[in-house]
Amino acid sequence: MSLLFTKEALKKFKTQGSLFPSTRALGKCMLKTVKMIPGVVVVELGAGTGVFTKEIILRLRERSRLIVFENNRALAELLRNQLKANIDEGRVVLIEDDAVNFPLHLNRLNIPQADYVISGLPLGNFNKTLRQKIFSAIRTGMKDDGVYVQFQYLLASFAHVRREFDAKIIGFEPRNIPPAFIYECKKKRN
Ligand SMILES: C[S@@+](CC[C@H](N)C(=O)[O-])C[C@H]1O[C@@H](n2cnc3c(N)ncnc32)[C@H](O)[C@@H]1O
Repeated sequence: MSLLFTKEALKKFKTQGSLFPSTRALGKCMLKTVKMIPGVVVVELGAGTGVFTKEIILRLRERSRLIVFENNRALAELLRNQLKANIDEGRVVLIEDDAVNFPLHLNRLNIPQADYVISGLPLGNFNKTLRQKIFSAIRTGMKDDGVYVQFQYLLASFAHVRREFDAKIIGFEPRNIPPAFIYECKKKRN
């Protein structure tokens, strides 16, 4: 799994953002403020080899759904195989597409908006246009009281996130390569 991630990262480092998948420790830290009550909809953006996906599935309660986005074909194929049982049960939907399209896919699935957006997207590597598209998709596709959780290796991107959301740093996980900061973001109230 890690080997495939590294192989894909060597081909497309900008979109991959790292040479290694995140650790389980970072996955747990990303989810520590997420309240997995029954019936929630969780959207995961940029799932890679599924480190966070597995942690989310472990916490999913009854009537909840997880919609996973990954636009790298090889990684999406790996996820499709790994998540087969959950996909067959209908708890998990895997979408091989750009994360910017996630509200369109929710619409297609008759899901108005998500409660949580968990993102592993390498925002710091994205240009301003792509970053704005992602932020706009999250504002459209997430409930007004929803929570968006993002990790980043450098605090540089925090300024971008804070311009768009009410954002705070909720953790730093040293047991990751590289170590990572975790942001929790809510929609700004007008
Ligand atoms: C830093 S990796 C994180 C992977 C995984 N969440 C983890 O923490 O190990 C970023 C992932 O986002 C995916 N990705 C990058 N841009 C994307 C986009 N626009 N839409 C969907 N996935 C994207 C990459 O293919 C990669 O798998």
